[in-house]
Amino acid sequence: MFAPQTFILGDTTYPGLSGFLGSRGSLMLDVVFLAMFIVVPVLAVSIYLVKIRHRYDLHKKLQLVMASVLLVAVVLFELDIRINGWEHRAAPSPYFDAAHKWTSPAGISLAIHLSFAIPTLLLWIVVVARALRNFPRPPHPAAHSRWHTRYGWAAAIGMLLTALTGWLFYYLAFIASSS
Ligand code: HEM
Repeated sequence: MFAPQTFILGDTTYPGLSGFLGSRGSLMLDVVFLAMFIVVPVLAVSIYLVKIRHRYDLHKKLQLVMASVLLVAVVLFELDIRINGWEHRAAPSPYFDAAHKWTSPAGISLAIHLSFAIPTLLLWIVVVARALRNFPRPPHPAAHSRWHTRYGWAAAIGMLLTALTGWLFYYLAFIASSS
C-alpha cells in the first residue's frame, strides 16, 4: 500500500499547489512555463504553413487551438497568482528582495514581462476575433489580409517576447538560489 503522503502534490512550504519541475514554481507557473515551449514552435509552424505552404485552413485550426489553450492557461494562472501570490516562492532567490519587490532583478524582469504579456494578450484576442469575422470560410486571402498580416506578425513577435521574458522571470524568481 502507498503511504497517504504519496498522493500529496508538491510540498507544503509555500501557499498553493507546488509544481513538478523541481524548482520553487507553483503548479500553474510550471504548466505555463512548459506550455510556452510548445506554443512558440507551434506558432512558428502555423506561420510557416500559411506563408510558405498556403495552408490557410491548418493555420486557422492551429491558431484557434492555441488561442483556446492559452486563454484557459492564463485564467488558471491568474487565479493561482492572485490567490497564492508568488513572493514566498521567490524569497530564497538572490535576485528577489521582498522589501524592494519591483526594483529587485526578479521584479524588474516581471514588469518587463507584463509589459509584453498584457498588450500581446489583448492584441491576440483582436487578431483572432477580426480574422474570424473578416476572412471567408474556408479561410483564404481577402481584403482583410493586409491588416491581418501586419498585426498577426505583431501578435506573433509579442508572444515570442512574452515567452522569453517569462522564462527569464521564472529563472530569476523560482530557480536561482543563493545557497
Ligand atoms: C492570434 C492569432 C493569429 C496570428 C498570430 C496569425 C498570424 C498570421 C501571420 C503572421 C500571417 C502572415 C504570414 C505571412 O507573412 O505571409 C497570417 C496570415 C493569414 N492568417 Fe493568420 N494568424 C492568426 C489567426 C488567424 C485566424 C483565426 C485565421 C482564420 C480565421 C487566420 C487566417 C489567415 C489567413 C487567411 C492568412 C493569409 C493572409 C494572406 O496571405 O493573404 N489567421 N496569420
